[in-house]
Amino acid sequence: MNVRVFATEQEAAAACAAHVAEGIRAKPSLVLGLPTGRTPLNVYRELVALYQRGALDFSGVTTFNLDEFLGVPPDDPGSFRAYMERHLFQHVNLAPEHIHFLDGSAERAERECARYDARLAAAGGLDLLLLGIGPNGHVAFNEPGESLQAASHRARLTRETRQAVASFFGDDVSRVPLAALTMGMGAVLQARRVILLAFGANKAAAVTAMVRGPITTLCPASLLQLHRDVEVWVDMAAGRGLETSL
Ligand code: PGA
Repeated sequence: MNVRVFATEQEAAAACAAHVAEGIRAKPSLVLGLPTGRTPLNVYRELVALYQRGALDFSGVTTFNLDEFLGVPPDDPGSFRAYMERHLFQHVNLAPEHIHFLDGSAERAERECARYDARLAAAGGLDLLLLGIGPNGHVAFNEPGESLQAASHRARLTRETRQAVASFFGDDVSRVPLAALTMGMGAVLQARRVILLAFGANKAAAVTAMVRGPITTLCPASLLQLHRDVEVWVDMAAGRGLETSL
């Protein structure tokens, strides 16, 4: 893992957006894996700014988002799909048919996950995957537990995760769905390149466990130690636990 500690979150986000832009210029048909949450907001802001300056063309790019809440339709304002529309999709020239999402409101979750995985396989897998990390070490909604799953699947959300995403549901944790559909660890580990971003003191323990701890399903992000091309880009607060050995 290549760890880089940035002075500020904004610097890391700008570097990440620049890296994505470089990737798209090098390969206009880039297949990009995208997270939601608070972490990537500045990256999306930077990407929109690059597009508006005419420095970036998304017309050949394909995207796969990591996860979606179970039972939440794409047009629900609390959905991750709505988040992506607000923060990126509405503002750039991505072709709608190149945007891929797990549909949380699909009648049969298993079939929906299989459809999504087949689409990802048909696209040739992810060239570049942007990831966040949960305070509990989850990536996408692959939550800590005795085992992890390779394929996309229905995941039960931990109490901690439901609390962390309550802001999507008016800060009312009782409104947060109990489960989600998520990309599995297979697609994460098969991505050709991964950039994991983590900002703020509440991520420090998870970042330390991911980078320095044992590889364990109790910290799903630790499996990224097995990946050959992972960048971990953090701000000083999230990188605090790594200081001594850097
Ligand atoms: P956050 O979520 O960006 O909102 O902190 C990250 C994650 O849970 O993966």
